[in-house]
Amino acid sequence: MSVTAKEYLGPCDISCLECCRVLDLGCGSGRDCYMLSQLVGEKGHVTGIDMTEDQVRNTSTTTQRFGYKKPNVNFVQGYIEALAEAGLEEKSYDIIISNCVVNLSPDKASVLREAYRVLKDGGELYFSDVYSDARIPEDLKANKVLWGECLSGVLWWEDLIRLAEEVGFCKPRLVTASIITVGNKELEKLLGNYKFVSATYRLFKLPKGSEKKSCLVMYNGEITGVEESFEFDGQYTFKVDKEMEVDGDVASILSNSRFSGEFTFQRQGLKTPEKKRMLGQTQGNFFINSFVFGSLYFSQISARSKSDTDKVAQ
Ligand SMILES: C[S@@+](CC[C@H](N)C(=O)[O-])C[C@H]1O[C@@H](n2cnc3c(N)ncnc32)[C@H](O)[C@@H]1O
Repeated sequence: MSVTAKEYLGPCDISCLECCRVLDLGCGSGRDCYMLSQLVGEKGHVTGIDMTEDQVRNTSTTTQRFGYKKPNVNFVQGYIEALAEAGLEEKSYDIIISNCVVNLSPDKASVLREAYRVLKDGGELYFSDVYSDARIPEDLKANKVLWGECLSGVLWWEDLIRLAEEVGFCKPRLVTASIITVGNKELEKLLGNYKFVSATYRLFKLPKGSEKKSCLVMYNGEITGVEESFEFDGQYTFKVDKEMEVDGDVASILSNSRFSGEFTFQRQGLKTPEKKRMLGQTQGNFFINSFVFGSLYFSQISARSKSDTDKVAQ
């Protein structure tokens, strides 16, 4: 088996994984952990955490399949709201991933707080989940079927942005989004006018006091698998050897994360006047709204088929 980062988590890249320590929140059967174990390589490590212990997970798979001397994957039973109790140490991971799990947690703030705690400075939480277009009321949250379908437990997307920044992450970067069609008349009736979107955001933990100033960056083309063009998020795609102006947030992320060695940075020669750059940053904020993004790209998925796929994958 050979996987690339692109095949793994959708159209954008969670690139630059070699030698990284990765944590998968709510890993289920561990499918993503095994894929990641190849992407991080023998010197990297992948930990999967899940509250259920149903799956007997064979950690020696990576030695057999990829020829590693010792397994580079381990699984922990525990709650994603309490990573310390599960023995996961502060600043011990470069990347945290998660797919369709946070919406199932009754305490999202603790999940984000714990993720922030175990990430190293410059690390990121790269995760896909479902979001609503308004805060879901308590009576819908109490409906077990809607909760189990990954619908009524979801965060209003604006609450994700607020919570992430409260915890200390820099402003979330939206990677991709697809509007969800519920596809079940009964559930649709219960849900009324609430709309849902499946979105992938990347949340970076930057060192305290990191400077946020626009600059010119140039991608050196050395990230494996994306040598010609590196899709960082829905707003920025970097072409090799081409200068590009980035706003202060992105400049700070690129220069303080595992991507710092992949770019050259230059403050001089910015072509856009400061006022216009501020405007550009406002337009950038527009890209943070997963509903706008999902509608712009007319991409749709069905909630039913999505959760069915998840169940099959377990
Ligand atoms: C929809 S499945 C997704 C599994 C996997 N991420 C995937 O993409 O196939 C949700 C998983 O999250 C786990 N989970 C839900 N809430 C959790 C929590 N609070 N702590 C740990 N695991 C949790 C469940 O046990 C289940 O395995």
